Amino acid sequence: MSETLIAPSVLAADFGALRSEMQDVESAGADLLHIDVMDGSFVPPITFGDNMVAVAKGAVNIPIEAHLMIKQPARHLDAYARAGADRIIIHYETCPHLHKDLADIKKLGCSNGVALNPATPINVVEDILEDCDLVLIMTVNPGWGGQKFIDMTLCKIEQLKARITQRGLPTLVEVDGGIDPTTAPKCVAAGVDILVAGTAVFGREDRKHAINALRTAS
Ligand code: DX5
Ligand code: ZN
Repeated sequence: MSETLIAPSVLAADFGALRSEMQDVESAGADLLHIDVMDGSFVPPITFGDNMVAVAKGAVNIPIEAHLMIKQPARHLDAYARAGADRIIIHYETCPHLHKDLADIKKLGCSNGVALNPATPINVVEDILEDCDLVLIMTVNPGWGGQKFIDMTLCKIEQLKARITQRGLPTLVEVDGGIDPTTAPKCVAAGVDILVAGTAVFGREDRKHAINALRTAS
């Protein structure tokens, strides 16, 4: 079995020292960097846009994924690709033309991902699983860091992984929200490939220790 990847979310970083925060987790062993884009509409808070992806691209060498918690993401895919995103993740709940949007992300030269809110069943991606590089199961309701992991999502992870395995697909499974050394092993046991963690990495003084704690817990 391949090793679980750790993707720190910069939402929990010190915004006054972003470059060094990003570099700190890279040297601490992060496998990729997760950038949470929020629009104040699909989710209440507003965070940052493609400019943050450009900052990350200039700061670190690990791959960067943009998690777009925004309405009408199709209008912005190009900007995120130009800013240097290696993967662009869009929400099922904001995309009536999901199949097209996923294809457009690939045409821009990026890996794609579909995020599903906790209340969204996994069967909504069943017919397009071949077209998904990654499915992100939200393990909290999107919008804020530091929330409690929703246990019911473990069952969704297991179901999704089973379908991917049955069909022999390379689609990755990622989780986001409330991931810490207690919840990480449950997710990995359920079949997760990538763990996103904000508070459990940036909220700790020793980032190397924090990342190792997630890895070894899993
Ligand atoms: C939530 C974001 C997450 C968030 C996770 O809407 O998508 O990426 O940063 O934060 P923690 O790990 O603190 O739950
Ligand atoms: Zn996220």
